[in-house]
Amino acid sequence: MNLNSIMDAEKNLLLPTYDRQKVLFTRGKGVYLWDAKGKRYLDFLSGIGVNALGHAHPAVLKVIKDQAGKLIHTSNLFYHPYQSELAKRLTKMSGMDRAFFCNSGTEAWEGALKLARAYARANNSNGHKAKWRLLALENSFHGRTFGALSTTGQAKYRDPFMPLVPGVDFVAFNDGEDLKRQFDGSVCAVCIETIQGEGGINLITQEFLQTARELTEKSDALLLLDEIQCGLGRTGKYFAYQNYGIQPDIVTVAKPLAAGLPLGALLTTNRVATAMQPGLHGTTFGGGPLACAVAIEVLKQMDKLKGNVAKLGGYFLAKLQDLQAKHSSVKSVRGIGMMLAIELDSADLAKAVLADLLANGILINRTHDTVLRLLPPYIIEKKHVDEVVHALDAALASAGKSNNHEGPPSASLRAGKGPRRKAVAA
Ligand SMILES: Cc1ncc(COP(=O)(O)O)c(C=O)c1O
Repeated sequence: MNLNSIMDAEKNLLLPTYDRQKVLFTRGKGVYLWDAKGKRYLDFLSGIGVNALGHAHPAVLKVIKDQAGKLIHTSNLFYHPYQSELAKRLTKMSGMDRAFFCNSGTEAWEGALKLARAYARANNSNGHKAKWRLLALENSFHGRTFGALSTTGQAKYRDPFMPLVPGVDFVAFNDGEDLKRQFDGSVCAVCIETIQGEGGINLITQEFLQTARELTEKSDALLLLDEIQCGLGRTGKYFAYQNYGIQPDIVTVAKPLAAGLPLGALLTTNRVATAMQPGLHGTTFGGGPLACAVAIEVLKQMDKLKGNVAKLGGYFLAKLQDLQAKHSSVKSVRGIGMMLAIELDSADLAKAVLADLLANGILINRTHDTVLRLLPPYIIEKKHVDEVVHALDAALASAGKSNNHEGPPSASLRAGKGPRRKAVAA
């Protein structure tokens, strides 16, 4: 099978949901992927934040082989040894008490929304007849099922599927006054991505998160944090909210949790968990022995890499700030740890830079048209960062030259010097 015949087959056989890059990957190892022609790619997207340990990690492979030979699935009607062990690790890392396991990020978020409504129904003592409104943020992304989509603040995802789940209102991003204005006793939860991922790597401010925490606490509403993309070590801490010193009532995780096997989780407190009982929520596949055994190993490995994420992430951000100082087409550079973004001044330029990097064997991604998103695996080294920065510099310069407003790469940039600009928390 070659790429063209696969493309032809997919065109006629699959729902046209994806506009795939024309690459056929056949294997991966560490930070690299190889296509069917043997060309090597440096993977700075890591399967949209999933392959945090890189590809074909030997410890992960060993667990997959051992566990697949013993037991893959039994259903949640029976016990297996790994859910409680995984929950013990996740609750310790997060400061939460309990976990629920499912198959994807969307499903974890869906569970969080349902739990928030169930908790409000069980504890509705503030005189409000209906405590079921959800406040979510503009420009957010929480997934594509009806509940998750209903809290996703982007018209392009929502509009084709209207009407959605009722009771959701949107607050302007990082606008504490708007949050206060819309918040009252009818709100059962405030929903926030601690760092908006798909929306362009936008960091929530300390002040906004604090306001959300105070309002929800006072009214026995819940603070729901979606850390499906920004959690589990991506910012250099286990959870992005740990950069703010604020605890949520529910947090959702998924992407890197089981190294590419489908696994999501919601973590919550004992108080909130009182709203659940057998039969109220569930899943056939979620939290199976194979995915959970792998996740335990992923978390063990992640522990060793947190320091690298924080240190190299800082270095990477500084290098990107050098690019911003040099190329007028770079509007903003932002992010934390290994969740970084470069916003360019046009979608065409972002497309051209992406294509240039792909041709040069480097994988990154574009979100929100003009934002280049960098989600490398946690195992990268300084030389990999330097390679990507050099390639970005060259791509921006050559795209700039064709637009006649950029110069060639400077010696100071290549040497890693040059002015610093403050990271923008947009
Ligand atoms: C913040 C956030 N929430 C939810 C989701 C949905 O997760 P999944 O695609 O695993 O269903 C994503 C996926 O990109 C995400 O980034």
